[in-house]
Amino acid sequence: MSSKRHIFILKFGGSSVSSVNCWRTIAQIIKTHRSQNSIPVVVCSAMSGISQMLDELATACTKAREHHKHQDQISGLVNEIKNKHHILCEQLKISGLILDPLFDQLREIITSCPQDEGWACCAFKANVMAMGECILTTIGHAFLEKCDLKCTHIQAQQWLCSRHQPHPPTSLAADEYFLSASCDYNFDPSLQSECLNSKADVFLTQGFLARDHQNHTVLLGRGGSDTSATCLAAKLGAIGVQIWTDVPGIFTAHPKEIPDSRLLLQLSYQEAQELASCGAKVLHPRCIEPLTANQIPLSIRWTQRPNLKMTTQVGDFKQPDYSVKGICSKKNITVFSMDTIQMWQQAGFLANVFSIFKQFHLSCDTISTSETNLTVTVHKTSQYLDENTLHQLSTKLSEICHLKVFDDCVTISLVGEGIRSILHRLASILKVFEDRKVFMVSQAANNLNLSFTVTAQDSNTILKQLHDHLFVHISDPHAHIFGHTWQDINDPQQLSQHDESTQPQPNNHLLWWVGHRDEITRLVSESLTTPAYITHLPTVNQRAQDLKQIQAVDQFFYAMKANPHPAVIQLIENMGFGFDCVSLGEINHLKRHLKNFDPQKIIFTPNFAPITEYIRAFEEQITVTVDNLQLLRDQPDLFRHKQIMIRMDLGTRQGHHHYVKTAGDQSKFGIPLDQTHALIETLKTHKITLKGVHFHQGSGIQGVESWKNSAYSLIQWASSVPAFCKNNRLWIDVGGGLAVAEKPHQSSPVCVKTLAEALAEVKSHHPHITLAMEPGRYLVAEAGIIVCQVHQTKTKGDHHYVGVDAGMHTLIRPALYGAYHHICHLNPPPHADKGPQSETVHIVGPICESGDVIARSRLMKKITVGDRLVICGAGAYGRVMSSNYNHRGYPDEFIMDT
Ligand code: LLP
Repeated sequence: MSSKRHIFILKFGGSSVSSVNCWRTIAQIIKTHRSQNSIPVVVCSAMSGISQMLDELATACTKAREHHKHQDQISGLVNEIKNKHHILCEQLKISGLILDPLFDQLREIITSCPQDEGWACCAFKANVMAMGECILTTIGHAFLEKCDLKCTHIQAQQWLCSRHQPHPPTSLAADEYFLSASCDYNFDPSLQSECLNSKADVFLTQGFLARDHQNHTVLLGRGGSDTSATCLAAKLGAIGVQIWTDVPGIFTAHPKEIPDSRLLLQLSYQEAQELASCGAKVLHPRCIEPLTANQIPLSIRWTQRPNLKMTTQVGDFKQPDYSVKGICSKKNITVFSMDTIQMWQQAGFLANVFSIFKQFHLSCDTISTSETNLTVTVHKTSQYLDENTLHQLSTKLSEICHLKVFDDCVTISLVGEGIRSILHRLASILKVFEDRKVFMVSQAANNLNLSFTVTAQDSNTILKQLHDHLFVHISDPHAHIFGHTWQDINDPQQLSQHDESTQPQPNNHLLWWVGHRDEITRLVSESLTTPAYITHLPTVNQRAQDLKQIQAVDQFFYAMKANPHPAVIQLIENMGFGFDCVSLGEINHLKRHLKNFDPQKIIFTPNFAPITEYIRAFEEQITVTVDNLQLLRDQPDLFRHKQIMIRMDLGTRQGHHHYVKTAGDQSKFGIPLDQTHALIETLKTHKITLKGVHFHQGSGIQGVESWKNSAYSLIQWASSVPAFCKNNRLWIDVGGGLAVAEKPHQSSPVCVKTLAEALAEVKSHHPHITLAMEPGRYLVAEAGIIVCQVHQTKTKGDHHYVGVDAGMHTLIRPALYGAYHHICHLNPPPHADKGPQSETVHIVGPICESGDVIARSRLMKKITVGDRLVICGAGAYGRVMSSNYNHRGYPDEFIMDT
């Protein structure tokens, strides 16, 4: 805390000023700043939706000159605007009378609507739109005073003045002059001392507006309140700016489109600027410049969660290493590709082309040239590029080149400082452009941006795939840069870790071991060697019972690959489950360990297995699933007259990682639909009959739709195939893949009750099928933990490493799929009692590979050597995928049956 008084700028956007809760938060934030010796200057936008209504109001006024009918629209809009503000006044318990003079003023402005187009019209629009901020700050001022804060209400025009420009010569320039002005932000020491010496607790002013040198009101462009805030910060010599909004910061992609987007914790000014310009909507692109020039830090804060500390900070951050920070996309791009041989060694071709764009007031976004081609993109939402202009522009350009225009494109930009020096690291991700049309690739000389212009149709897939490659399975160890995902941040458990106000509540399934702490501590002290797997049978039992509630499923086959521990398979068999085996080894394992080995309750679903395994399975009377047409053709003697299941690939693929999606041409599983005809022929030729059909689209699937859809599609497919054994019921096996919660508090990603309803619906339409499922993970994941011990810790730069004895040899899922496993102390460490001391650490194993990381960037209670940690949710694909790599031995195993 600084003892010197200083100025701090707090900007609140539309969604952060529209309710009583927002204003309570604002008052609280102001009080916190006051207690830290800072004078807050609060900059407010208009209430949500009001600027849009005022914009429509201004347009209606200009139209009303010609058509009287617009009068109704005008009074309707004014009333609506008035209503919204009156409601806010009511909520804040402020008299609505304070609004009367403002609405009188608005009516007066409306009646002064100019007759002519041009600059008077733009000035009029600026006056109308400015009222939104003026009304809101009047309300805010009254409320803050009511909260015992001495609040000085400043008209933004007093403090901010637009850059001097000659009088607007044309209507287009008038638009920019009045509605998208830029302001001077030179430091003003006298204004600063006026604020610092004032008796006020807080200054409140409007964002978005300023004046020109003739005292006309001008606007800073939509979203320009951010720029008001940063210009004021520079002018007043503020020590920082907080932008309070409806997201906690800038993400690696648009979080609503890509929920896996990660919060960017630190951005340099240049990166923030580039991300804002390329389409990230959180900050106004012009707001960064005043900060850069004065080295003022900016942070983004989330109004909904004011205590959340992990948010985006923009400042003068030194980069230890370069990396891509985010992906942005800009829609509505029009590409102009201009070919001409004249360009070769000719002076002035580019000048001619760009002067034509200038004539039409079009700003070119990205440009790329070769000896004979110039390609330019223009953002079509620019009001200047309508159909007519496009036609005229094309005609003009066609006079000097061979022109091709591509409409409805999207520019996808990878943004990060030093992007040119990390091209080699991007090599592997370029495969996402395979079979896609790329109109242009552009790399700006500022070394911040690599852009690809593609069709709108392809853009979502490309964006998602690029993001997956770059950020989801992140191999970049910049913990201080990439924060949690949007999904995680919306998960109450994750939030509470970063939030000082709430305490997590345990999830019984993932945290079953908490009630067995003493016993486990004794076990690992006396008889087990860490790292050790401990599996809790009652949890497996509970999960099996859950599934049995799904009455529409006639038979469950446990995918034993997930966890073949003898105690686990015996329990699951006792519950009436059959088994899905993928190798002869698994079948033999069942034979060895089950009390009652019943081949009728096994399905054998191998993939590219040796032929001998099929032979043995048939000999054992086990149902064989074939997922390869070529195999049937190559082994006619083996399959002739047999009854089999067939594994189809319906094309839809889902799963928690690329490696566990088992459909689509890039996956080796199943018979694609386009081979159906050939399959029918082969079955006929060799007199093979089908017992049923199977589709497993992947592992770690959320929601319930995919199994329902698979069932319907398989039934439909089967209806076109004559090879089904007519005497039996048709088996429809919709595979496994049910996802489980990875974090305490996370609700189950698959709601069993909803799944039961969805499959009951299928059954009600098709009562004659036998429905089967093959869950693996769902039954065992939460039941297993790994207890490990901390042997070393290390700090390198900003990175803190915690070395445990569990590594990729113990649990390969984090290294292989970037999988998340919740980790915490087995026993809360005594040093954590002193307070919420926590640190962000990487938990790593002892294997000599850089990928040997169990968890990256985890916020953990302070860890010291000797502490024991629990890795949760390790019951599925855990011990069974462990190895003796580096000769570290296999982990110990222990079963708890109560
Ligand atoms: N059926 C078939 C044909 C399968 O291939 C699998 C899993 C399952 C059922 C069971 O899927 P589950 O319900 O367990 O998701 N090692 C990866 C998972 C690989 C899944 C392999 N096949 C992981 O650790 O996430």
